[in-house]
Amino acid sequence: MVFPPGLQILFPETEIAATVGRLASEISRDYRKKTPLFIAILKGSFIFLADLIRQLDFPMELDFIIACSYGKGTETSGEVKILHEPRISAKGRHVVVIEDIADTGLTTAAVVEHLKKQKPASLKLCVLLDKRERRLLPVKIDYLGLTVPNKFLVGYGLDCDEKYRNLPDVYVLDEKCQTQ
Ligand code: IMP
Ligand code: MG
Repeated sequence: MVFPPGLQILFPETEIAATVGRLASEISRDYRKKTPLFIAILKGSFIFLADLIRQLDFPMELDFIIACSYGKGTETSGEVKILHEPRISAKGRHVVVIEDIADTGLTTAAVVEHLKKQKPASLKLCVLLDKRERRLLPVKIDYLGLTVPNKFLVGYGLDCDEKYRNLPDVYVLDEKCQTQ
């Protein structure tokens, strides 16, 4: 594939695959007999989710949630709105929330709080990339892929203005993402 200029590779797809494999093993160890409900935060997590769940060889269910944090530029107002609710209730279920990247932590924290109101039997968080330097709210990540620098990343589901999601590797965008 010919990549657009202005991207520096951070994690090649081989490294991502190894990381996803490790996370799948950790989750399998804990959930094999629990028929967990995976709730993925769209859109960024869709490729990670697809790779992860195809490595699980036990019964599970899947649903989606869309959350949006409001703010101007790189600043955030701190307000997170749930734009799409999962159709499957989390009540009494062993829930695993799947997120592509934890940045300020606002989105993840809001989704976790939102789902906890439904009284799941348990709720854990699986995050592929942790940009922990930017954290504004504490987030407990139970299954963590890779820690990343405070740079804007694209590829493997992550976008800048909806572009680059299809790249198989994770890249650092040289320029700041103008829409963020
Ligand atoms: P948070 O609420 O600040 O933790 O941001 C979470 C959401 O912002 C993620 O689910 C991503 O959709 C998006 N995001 C944060 N950092 C990046 C990045 O480096 N590249 C692309 N999207 C990002
Ligand atoms: Mg996301």
